[in-house]
Amino acid sequence: MLPTPKFSNLDFDKVYEPAEDTFLLLDCFEGQIQYLNTQFGPGSTPVITEIGTGSGVVTTFVCQHVFPYGIVLSTDINPHACLAFMDTVTENSIVNPTVDTLQMSLTSGIRPNAIDVLIFNPPYVPAEEVPQIPESLQDSKWLDLALSGGEDGMEVTWILLHQLDHILSKKVGIAYILFCARNKPEEVANYMRQQGWIVDVVIHRKAGWEVLSILRFKRNES
Ligand SMILES: C[S@@+](CC[C@H](N)C(=O)[O-])C[C@H]1O[C@@H](n2cnc3c(N)ncnc32)[C@H](O)[C@@H]1O
Repeated sequence: MLPTPKFSNLDFDKVYEPAEDTFLLLDCFEGQIQYLNTQFGPGSTPVITEIGTGSGVVTTFVCQHVFPYGIVLSTDINPHACLAFMDTVTENSIVNPTVDTLQMSLTSGIRPNAIDVLIFNPPYVPAEEVPQIPESLQDSKWLDLALSGGEDGMEVTWILLHQLDHILSKKVGIAYILFCARNKPEEVANYMRQQGWIVDVVIHRKAGWEVLSILRFKRNES
């Protein structure tokens, strides 16, 4: 089992603390190394974007073990998470000069069809509504954006799913997105297959009373 990146300096009142969903993503990428090397070639430099990077642990792991030469841009709507990401990158001595972070919603600041590998552990918990975006850095509510996903926990995720064709690279283009059972991932997978995507469940696990799964979405080139 590959080691978890270090994350000793973060303030978890402001940034999502790595939890079962985070660790499921690490296990997912440990299991995907061979597949991704086959897709992109060993030593390749794909563009990797993690949306909602939180602590930055997932992207740091991907930099360490999957794509040491990748061009990496992590995003989060929470500015504290963008800062945490850079702290985690530094703490783990990632020296890749093309690792950076930007505050934005989803991929709104990224050129179309620029992302080769997209990663998203979204706010997936069903809730009455998706919280409002705080207006100042000092606001105490940034962390609320990490979990509450509105109807079926899917409001933020559906926005991204409908953008996939626009944001993923036309060459390969693979997205890894995490779901809980209440997001109805089988229905999501079937819908996306009807839209022409190849969808696979790459890992799933019971975590407390929740079942989490990670779906891989890939363009159907045939
Ligand atoms: C469940 S946490 C996952 C954090 C981290 N990736 C992990 O796996 O530990 C969801 C993250 O998505 C971010 N987020 C929520 N809505 C977002 C949006 N519209 N655009 C970008 N990030 C968003 C939150 O701030 C939070 O950091």
